[in-house]
Amino acid sequence: MVTTLIIKQILVIDSEELAHVSQIVFLKRNDKPWNKCDFTSILNQRGFGWKYLVNEHIVGYVLAVDLFDYVDLLKLAVLPNYQRQGIATKLLEKMLQLKKRILLDVASDNIGAISLYEKHGFKKIDKRLHYYCYGGCVSDSLIFQYP
Ligand SMILES: CC(C)(COP(=O)(O)OP(=O)(O)OC[C@H]1O[C@@H](n2cnc3c(N)ncnc32)[C@H](O)[C@@H]1OP(=O)(O)O)[C@@H](O)C(=O)NCCC(=O)NCCS
Repeated sequence: MVTTLIIKQILVIDSEELAHVSQIVFLKRNDKPWNKCDFTSILNQRGFGWKYLVNEHIVGYVLAVDLFDYVDLLKLAVLPNYQRQGIATKLLEKMLQLKKRILLDVASDNIGAISLYEKHGFKKIDKRLHYYCYGGCVSDSLIFQYP
């Protein structure tokens, strides 16, 4: 069996598979998963990103929107069975290589993601109260900026 690991740019035709990954990853976090339309819609506008493939299947992705003077990082996700293997790090590095200012929101209780962003030089610049509200859970958002 040949196992290939590869990072490729996300295309609109990936929307269905991205939605599938999103269902698994974000439902596990009590977060609202994106559906196929959400991905298609953002990718048809100024959305862009990278997918991490294992045997031609998406196991992780990073998605952002280019707002000219900065990039808004919307989603970073890795399937549970593939976490803690450096995949999010590799995807995030693709974003950092753009050499643009990056802003993102992360739930204040998402210790893993916060630790990942801080490790890569993101700094907390603000907070939005009760920003995330899904499945009866409400949490604040921390706004991080890079560099
Ligand atoms: C957050 C997430 C993207 C990290 O993906 P990952 O591929 O496991 O991350 P990496 O393996 O690149 O981790 C790099 C570093 O980040 C930190 N980190 C990642 N996950 C962590 C966790 N669960 N707890 C604590 N630290 C964590 C660690 O410092 C880790 O380095 P180490 O493994 O050497 O200790 C993944 O857990 C995920 O998809 N979570 C659900 C969705 C989500 O919360 N997305 C981010 C907000 S949009």
